[in-house]
Amino acid sequence: MRAADGGDLLARLNRASERQRRPQPEGAPDGPTPRRAACWWSPPELISLAGTAAWEGMDEAARRRLSFWETVAFFSLNVHNERRLVTGVLERRGRIEDPEVGAYLDHFAREEQEHTALFEAFCTRHAGGTFPDRALAFPEAAGRLDPDAGDLLFFGRVLLFEDLVDRFNVACALDARLPEAVRDVHRRHHRDEARHLLFGKEMLRRLWSAHHPRLSEATRAALAGQLRGFLLAAWRDLFSVDAYRAVGLERPLEVRRAALASPAAADRFRWATTRCLGFFAELGLPCGPTSPEGAS
Ligand SMILES: [Fe+2]
Ligand SMILES: [Fe+2]
Repeated sequence: MRAADGGDLLARLNRASERQRRPQPEGAPDGPTPRRAACWWSPPELISLAGTAAWEGMDEAARRRLSFWETVAFFSLNVHNERRLVTGVLERRGRIEDPEVGAYLDHFAREEQEHTALFEAFCTRHAGGTFPDRALAFPEAAGRLDPDAGDLLFFGRVLLFEDLVDRFNVACALDARLPEAVRDVHRRHHRDEARHLLFGKEMLRRLWSAHHPRLSEATRAALAGQLRGFLLAAWRDLFSVDAYRAVGLERPLEVRRAALASPAAADRFRWATTRCLGFFAELGLPCGPTSPEGAS
């Protein structure tokens, strides 16, 4: 992409975020709260245990309750990751010289704070709160090797996480089996994330073309390894022990291990990640596991 195209894109994204700006953060969507076992809260085909022995042992009511608690886990994961993301954006904001990029990062941080409020409001209203943050701190090995690689690593992680989440947001927003209150959260998130994904790709194109010629092979390999590790960790986070416990499954850690190793999960992993990994390969930074092997 030529620089002029990227400049146009950023100007358009800034205008779109400005138009979209709400006078005050939106609250949780209204509407009656269905009983947990009365409906699907996420598409059953996308539930982490679908296709596993544990799933076969559950009746429809238990599967629906699991879809509820996995939705709470998914929104909780977004809350925790968005907080980290906003911290990283604000840390970088002062160093950004391009005014269009700086202006967009301001929109980006504000929109993430609104998403966090939206997800938290849903979890509080329907489940009494979010699940705790279970993520382990991620070392920034590539960043230590080279400071420019640190920005590539940060924006690379952001894109991997946002694209993974967006695959689920779109599928849930379109699924008529889900309550409108749930579809609306997914829809609202996708509306902003569609812009964040375009921005993230543009940032990575710029950073890569500015820095990659002088990155050593060792730094490139460290960067790809860190991105791969981050994606696998984000994928594992979708298999929530908190959700399994909430629905009363016995030996939830074993259930999780078996689910992560299942062929059904490998299929879902490919569905969820192929699009984004294709972008990284095209960029010149292939970082894909094509299956979640070793993710357990
Ligand atoms: Fe978000
Ligand atoms: Fe985002």
